[in-house]
Amino acid sequence: MKPTVAPFPATRLRRNRQSASLRALTRQHSFSVDDLIWPVFVMDGTDDETPVASMPGVTRKTVDRVAKAAIEAQTLGIPAICLFPYTGMEARTEDCAMAWDPNNLTNQAIRAIKDAAPDIAIMTDIALDPYNINGHDGFVENGEIVNDRTVEALVKMALAQADAGADILGPSDMMDGRIAAIRHALETEKHQNVTILSYTAKYASAFYGPFRDAVGASSALTGDKNTYQMDPGNSDEALRLVERDLSEGADMIMVKPGMPYLDVCRRVKDAFGVPTFAYQVSGEYAMLQAAVQNGWLNDEQVMMESLLAFKRAGCDGVLTYFAPAAAKILNR
Ligand code: PBG
Repeated sequence: MKPTVAPFPATRLRRNRQSASLRALTRQHSFSVDDLIWPVFVMDGTDDETPVASMPGVTRKTVDRVAKAAIEAQTLGIPAICLFPYTGMEARTEDCAMAWDPNNLTNQAIRAIKDAAPDIAIMTDIALDPYNINGHDGFVENGEIVNDRTVEALVKMALAQADAGADILGPSDMMDGRIAAIRHALETEKHQNVTILSYTAKYASAFYGPFRDAVGASSALTGDKNTYQMDPGNSDEALRLVERDLSEGADMIMVKPGMPYLDVCRRVKDAFGVPTFAYQVSGEYAMLQAAVQNGWLNDEQVMMESLLAFKRAGCDGVLTYFAPAAAKILNR
């Protein structure tokens, strides 16, 4: 017997794609300016900025320039800016004391931004790597990155940032117990409204290379971060980490890197339904920009498509170096 073939398709899914208006009407996910957190590199000096070679379009900025950038970001409607200090070898010590100095670069920048652009939320990074002589996120004793002594230092760093006026603390160190310790300190030191966006599922990734150049960590780092950052082969562990960080007092959680870990974003969002962010890290930015510079990809299209992917994967927002460029397009 000959198979019977229907004279027309039973379902025409192309009907909803036939015009821009029907596509707009039936589109499930969209990306908005409200979804952006802009990571910015702060350096010493005044009225100056230097390009980061491996991140075309990104510069390290002096504190006054960071304040100007914050005004621009606020005007564009970007809800938050995230600070990372550039530190040379001279700022790095064994005891990492600069990390909790009320006058370190991050804390200077927090105060300058609060003055210049009071409505933008300020996020920080909590980890010892900018000030550690060996580039690690924690203290190193006999080759081991020690956990509990590091957490005590991270608490001091967190309090210094909260004192300076930070709105969102971002512990990126991956030590165990740091969220509980920081939350407890914030509560006891009258910073109960300071939020914690935990770098919860942070993988030991090769995509951080350009960032380590941008902050001056590449030459300092000895060895790798595999004993504290997550193994790229794991995703169940991400759920254990999210559960742990939420129970310890995190308000929002992050998956990092972003594009190679969208499966983790989706699992986390489905399992917990809490504010979930992804970090489109330096290497992701660098690879897209490299292709754009070669004329192999269209810059605006590839940028916006990459950002939309995070929303489709369940994220509420994205830390991305594309933030100002994306905001300009979204505001058109
Ligand atoms: C360090 C930190 C890193 C990034 C953010 N905070 C690098 C690392 O863990 O070595 C990477 C961000 C990026 O690549 O854009 N605590």
